[in-house]
Amino acid sequence: MARRYRIAVVPGDGIGPEVTREAVETLKVAAEARDFSLEFQEYPFGAEHYLKTKETLPDSALTEMRAQDAILVGAIGDPRIPTGLLERAIISGVRFGLDLYVNLRPVKLYAEQLCPLKGKRPEDVDLVVVRENTEDVYAGIGGFLKKGTPDEVAIQEMIFTRKGVERVIRYAFELCRRRGKTKKLTMIDKANAVGAMDLWTRVFEEVGRDFPEIQRDHAYIDAACMWMVKNPEAFDTVVVSNMFGDIFTDLGAAIQGGMGMAASGNIHPGRVSMFEPIHGSAPKHAGKGVASPIGAILAGQMLLEHLGESEAAALVATSVEDLFATGKLRSTGTDSGVGTREQGRLVREAIGCRAG
Ligand code: IPM
Ligand code: MG
Repeated sequence: MARRYRIAVVPGDGIGPEVTREAVETLKVAAEARDFSLEFQEYPFGAEHYLKTKETLPDSALTEMRAQDAILVGAIGDPRIPTGLLERAIISGVRFGLDLYVNLRPVKLYAEQLCPLKGKRPEDVDLVVVRENTEDVYAGIGGFLKKGTPDEVAIQEMIFTRKGVERVIRYAFELCRRRGKTKKLTMIDKANAVGAMDLWTRVFEEVGRDFPEIQRDHAYIDAACMWMVKNPEAFDTVVVSNMFGDIFTDLGAAIQGGMGMAASGNIHPGRVSMFEPIHGSAPKHAGKGVASPIGAILAGQMLLEHLGESEAAALVATSVEDLFATGKLRSTGTDSGVGTREQGRLVREAIGCRAG
């Protein structure tokens, strides 16, 4: 029987719908080339839907998504809606609702000309960041006292649990072993200033004992940013807490060629997981057909990998690589001169050539 998967799709806001369309079409082509099929179910969540219905992410949708094989998200966020309302309800809603505790963010340079750093080549920028995805300040523990008065107090707690820290660190060790590159795992934290991060330090040592072949490396987040710009080749696999990981991976996106390149997977191993480009909704570029779909397409590539369709995933990755190597695509900026649809078409054409 042919393999068949059900994918929930949330195109979302701003440039989300236009890049998601290219990702979906590309996934279909890759699936066909490797003899399986994908069935997409689209959900309307995002700003327009919220303005019409006041609904963000209903529980019924989460329940439906749980029964599917994967979720693909475009982008969420709109200047007409109070800051963070949709992002917290939808992006964090799915991350927390499905307990997607790993935010996997590869930082891979596909071609030298994409890198803003002098003299860095593809072999110098090839790391993967494992960002914790369900704790830290994102857990939403906090609130206001005397709101709107001169005596206002605002609190947001940085929460780390033993279980939460341990599972993400273990995932990172396992991933580092699977990558088999330099076998070095760098933990990034701020234990020198944030006392609670001593938990990360201890768990890293403890879990690390189960992985004697993996070298344990460590950097504080500020120094890690400095190293990332100076010597990105120093990193292989990185494990980092939620908010520092959020910041560090935008830096990663920039050195791999910009936000238009970067993809992420919100993963709970063995369960339905969510894939999305790292870029946001970029409202000022929406509807113009200039946003690059490459980040969304590479999110689709990660989704295929998660489904266990490694051959199809490799087909997408090498096809994107071909386009940069041959100069058919020179950047993923909105000024690249190649529109959203055309970039998608080029990727699919390359897949067609490779698939034979
Ligand atoms: C990301 C985004 C989100 C985050 C926002 C939209 C809540 O920046 O996925 O990196 O902070 O996690
Ligand atoms: Mg971010």
